[in-house]
Formats: sequence, C-alpha cells, structure tokens
Amino acid sequence: MITFKILKNENQMLKEKDFIIKVSKIYNTKPEYLCYLSYFLENFYKTHKNNFIVIAKENDNILSVARFEYKYSIDNLDMKNKVLITGLATLEDFRNRGIASKVLQKGIGKVLKDTPSFQICLGVNKDNVNAINLYKKLGFIIEENEQDIDLPYFNKNFQIFMHYEKQGN
Ligand SMILES: CC(C)(COP(=O)(O)OP(=O)(O)OC[C@H]1O[C@@H](n2cnc3c(N)ncnc32)[C@H](O)[C@@H]1OP(=O)(O)O)[C@@H](O)C(=O)NCCC(=O)NCCS
Repeated sequence: MITFKILKNENQMLKEKDFIIKVSKIYNTKPEYLCYLSYFLENFYKTHKNNFIVIAKENDNILSVARFEYKYSIDNLDMKNKVLITGLATLEDFRNRGIASKVLQKGIGKVLKDTPSFQICLGVNKDNVNAINLYKKLGFIIEENEQDIDLPYFNKNFQIFMHYEKQGN
C-alpha cells in the first residue's frame, strides 16, 4: 500500500532510512553531486520553520517527493507570502499512477490549513508538458502578470510560472 507522509522537520526527515540516497535515485542525481544534495536537504529546514517535504512510500521505498518552501532555500530569499513547490519527482517505474498528484494534494492541503493567506506557486520548464498538464489538472493556472514573478533564478525564456487557484473561487 502506498502511503503519503509529511516530513515537518529535520528529525523526521533523517528518521527515514537512507533518505538522501533514496531521494537521489528519484532525482537521478549523479554520484559526484550527491554531496550537494545532501548539504541542501540537511539545510532545507533551517531556512524557514514552515518548510516541509511530502513523500510517497511503499514499504521502505520512497516513490515520489516534493518540497514546499516558504523561503527560497538556495539563497534564503523571502518570497513575500508565497510557498514555492520545488523538486517534485516520481521514480520512473512508478509514474502515471497518480502518485505525484496525491503528493501535491497532500502538501497543498497542509498549506491551505496552516497558512491560508500564502499563495502556492511553482516554476516549470516550458517543454515539460507532462508536469504542466498535471499542475493544471490540480488547479494551477499560468501566471500572466510578470510583476508577480519575482523569484530568483526564474528564467521566463525557459520557464513558466504557475499559481494555485483555490477550487470554488
Ligand atoms: C512530473 C512527474 C513528477 C509526474 O509524476 P507522476 O507520479 O507520474 O504523476 P501522476 O501520475 O500524478 O500524473 C501524471 C499523469 O498520470 C495521470 N494519472 C493520474 N492518476 C492516474 C492513474 N491512477 N492511472 C493512470 N494515470 C494516472 C495523470 O492524469 C497525469 O496525466 P496527464 O499529464 O496526461 O494529465 C514525473 O513525470 C517526474 O518525476 N518527472 C521528472 C521530474 C519533473 O519533471 N518534475 C517536475 C518539475 S516542475
């Protein structure tokens, strides 16, 4: 049975056996970059107390992961009432079964409950049609107002920016 779990702090993350190795497999991280992923994940919770990670698990296997960032962890930049979804990925053999959709829904539910005034947003490569369709199905719309796109490293030549539009609004 697949279960969906929110990791709210570093302790909960490190309690997951071989978490960084398992996530590196989902991300296809090259061995020489493993130290950067490890450093990044170990510091993920230090940038903002609300940051969290959602995983999908089957037995001891991690199948899918997404990060919800209240402060952009790479340079500690404040995002003004925005929560950024980053690092969404599912193990290749487990794709197209609705796992990432449920990971995202779990995280979105937590943000709406804990910090309802925050906008949930993300950047996605223009050619990543699978991911864009998935986000649209879940209620994300493409950001038209370029002034609202003030994220670091966001490149509008290659990426589109989307935000979650609450259902029923
Ligand atoms: C994008 C990505 C995370 C999607 O993960 P996933 O677990 O396959 O996602 P889902 O299964 O929830 O949704 C994918 C598709 O499966 C469909 N699906 C959902 N539930 C399903 C089910 N029970 N059975 C079959 N298909 C299903 C979805 O409708 C969706 O199809 P669509 O794109 O045509 O709408 C995955 O392809 C991936 O890891 N890609 C590489 C990393 C990446 O690009 N990440 C996004 C960065 S912004």
